[in-house]
Amino acid sequence: MDQGKQITLPLLMSVGTAVIGSLQFGYNTGVINAPQEIIENFINQTWYHRYNEPITEGSLTAVWSIAVSVFSVGGIFGSFSVGLFVNRLGRRNSMLMANILAFISAVLMGFSKMAKSWEMLIIGRFVVGLYCGLSTGFVPMYVGEISPTALRGALGTLHQLGIVIGILIAQIFGLKVIMGNEDLWPLLLAFLFIPAVIQCVLLPLCPESPRFLLINKNEENKAKCVLKKLRGTTDVSADMQEMKEESRQMMREKKVTILELFRSPLYRQPLLIAVMLQLSQQLSGINAVFYYSTSIFTKAGVEQPVYATIGAGVVNTAFTVVSLFVVERAGRRSLHLLGLLGMAGSAILMTIAMALLDQLKWMSYVSIVAIFAFVAFFEIGPGPIPWFIVAELFSQGPRPSAIAVAGFSNWTANFIVGMGFQYVASACGPYVFVIFTVLLVIFFIFTYFKVPETKGRTFDDIAAGFRQTAAMAEKHTPEELNSLGADSQL
Ligand code: GLC
Repeated sequence: MDQGKQITLPLLMSVGTAVIGSLQFGYNTGVINAPQEIIENFINQTWYHRYNEPITEGSLTAVWSIAVSVFSVGGIFGSFSVGLFVNRLGRRNSMLMANILAFISAVLMGFSKMAKSWEMLIIGRFVVGLYCGLSTGFVPMYVGEISPTALRGALGTLHQLGIVIGILIAQIFGLKVIMGNEDLWPLLLAFLFIPAVIQCVLLPLCPESPRFLLINKNEENKAKCVLKKLRGTTDVSADMQEMKEESRQMMREKKVTILELFRSPLYRQPLLIAVMLQLSQQLSGINAVFYYSTSIFTKAGVEQPVYATIGAGVVNTAFTVVSLFVVERAGRRSLHLLGLLGMAGSAILMTIAMALLDQLKWMSYVSIVAIFAFVAFFEIGPGPIPWFIVAELFSQGPRPSAIAVAGFSNWTANFIVGMGFQYVASACGPYVFVIFTVLLVIFFIFTYFKVPETKGRTFDDIAAGFRQTAAMAEKHTPEELNSLGADSQL
């Protein structure tokens, strides 16, 4: 096998352990959908217990919406704080430390019923949001940095695979017969404790990112040692060479703060691309499906919405696996374009099906097909690619700040869709997906004109490409611009 493509046991184990963080993100995204009614009952009962009167409809909706969406508020804060940890503690130890948040949140949510406190539930959701926000930064960064160039896309897609498996597990566990019932729902929410324990046991056995060791810590021997293990070969000179080149470049760049990232013309283009790709992922409307599928399917006349939701979860997982196998062949750009276009087509189909439902009953089947296709196209490109491409678009210096900004954009858009969808849906009726269609077309056009292919290129080469573009735009040579970039950071 080509040495650059070698999947070794230590590499697989490190990536596998890291993506437990992704699994947690998916689980907590999906877990709140099915047991809504039961938890609402609990809120009502605690309210009664305290105030001797039932909760009003309005207050119940408010408490519930806060419990759902405070998760993304936590995510916004968490993702924005990524840069505070990764350069001080290292990538691996940052992931390890974040588990404290998972434990705290599991305790808060798991004991909320016993303590008769829905406040504990809300705080727990916020804390697990913080944890997931951090994970969406830590995991793609660590995976991107330990993977060989030729496998960066495929292994990067494992972050998304972790997420979708997490969603699917949550959908299944949330069934009434498993844990989505009156007695066991606290356990359903506290289940995240178990993956957290597993990750804490396994992470100390995984190596620190060799890029962090060499470029940030200047520990050449340690970096070499880790690389040998990860690559399964004693000759790691090519990787070392590449990292040293990146390191030399970084000496000129220094560490880049978030403010500097916005100021320097060097990063304007990649930053715009990173943010737009995150927005294309969230404003595609995917989480309208994953948060509210049950009510969408009900409106579309589907009789067993819970099973249709699980069906969507299965399609979601299956197509992430497809993407995993084609991303290194077809490339990021073309898959993202294909995904956006397919999603736009599916959204149109969905709209037609919803609009004609009153006249033609069988349209409910068409709407199931449309939603499944929507989800499938999402996972072909817009699901996995935005998460790992940010690590590819930036070199070691600006990477942590860029990942923080990208994560922040992603979570904010996630929050907006989560909060706003139900209101917009009731205002637009069957035409709500038209909004997503328009957005999808805009993102398609942007991707077509602005996003370069990153498949098979080293981090340094990708950064050099952007320096060239920036130089042309600013009418400087790349070297001049480099010192300009460095100056602006002093
Ligand atoms: C992506 C999104 C996440 C969404 C998931 C669905 O990971 O970031 O918000 O729920 O895909 O598969």
